[in-house]
Amino acid sequence: MAALQGAQDGGTFFPPQATEAAAEHDSVFFLIFWISAFFFALINVAAVYFAIRYRRRAKGEPVEKSPSHNTKIELVWTIIPTLIVCYLFWIGMTGYVDRRTAPAGAYTVYVTGQKWSWSFAYPEGFVSNELHAPVGRAVKLVIGSTDVLHSVYIPAFRVKMDAVPGRYTEAWFESNRPGTYNLFCAEYCGQQHSMMGASVVIHADRAGFDEWVKEQTDLGDLTPVELGALLYTRKGCNTCHTLDGARLVGPSFKDLYGSPREFEGGGTAIADEAYLREAIMEPTARVTKDYSPTMPDFKNGPIKIEASELVGFIEFIKSLSADGAAEQAQAPGEAPEQEQE
Ligand code: CUA
Repeated sequence: MAALQGAQDGGTFFPPQATEAAAEHDSVFFLIFWISAFFFALINVAAVYFAIRYRRRAKGEPVEKSPSHNTKIELVWTIIPTLIVCYLFWIGMTGYVDRRTAPAGAYTVYVTGQKWSWSFAYPEGFVSNELHAPVGRAVKLVIGSTDVLHSVYIPAFRVKMDAVPGRYTEAWFESNRPGTYNLFCAEYCGQQHSMMGASVVIHADRAGFDEWVKEQTDLGDLTPVELGALLYTRKGCNTCHTLDGARLVGPSFKDLYGSPREFEGGGTAIADEAYLREAIMEPTARVTKDYSPTMPDFKNGPIKIEASELVGFIEFIKSLSADGAAEQAQAPGEAPEQEQE
């Protein structure tokens, strides 16, 4: 059927199918759709036909006699729809059970939703703001939230599961199509809900995936500025803070270091290292004027940052202002920058 053919790449209704489950999902959808369309047409055509056929005619005309009972027809229109709905229940239920049960030995990634970013903790011991997996490998997502309800939604995989504070939920997928796909938050969670997304990268082979994992775990050689730049996206700071001076939920990092700060409820400070430390660890202690206290607290909150990471953040922010970059350039003992890969 032409419409079913179109479903191979998602068709008009759906995004591309990047898992076998997506193809199954779409075929069940279109089966139900076409059965419904068929009966919609059949019933409406019959209704119109009977309305005309048995309409009231001239005054005094005797009413046509209609049959009160027809066992054969009643059996047909009871048994056929019953078989159809039993079949639809069967494919729906088995599909549901398959989608809810991750295969044994699946690669497990912990997904954490937080206003307004996603983080993915991998079994190799690192955290990223992107979800990566090789093609043909079952991936189980164990999903949680540190604050409010969010929902993991990967349209190309037909995967959607709520992230509920205080408990874990599960979803899984196995992609058969390398590429980069969108992950959205599908549960309204506040101001930046629509910006709360992440990339899902499916590597064409295991080697490419392993190489990415290696890049994520080899942090030994990074300077604090490089570490900060990596953490800026990895920890999701980029959802609220830009590097180009544009305003999002929080102040931009550009030219932040060394600038005078004004606070809600009065008070001022110069954004030096001590201020940046406080602003990162206890962001609600002093809130910058005209901004709201929405940043997670790294001192008392559920997500911690290490001392070396804090240094990375501060040095990265410094590198984004003229004052800070000048200071870093003069750092004693710092080797002149070299071209190296
Ligand atoms: Cu998180 Cu919407």
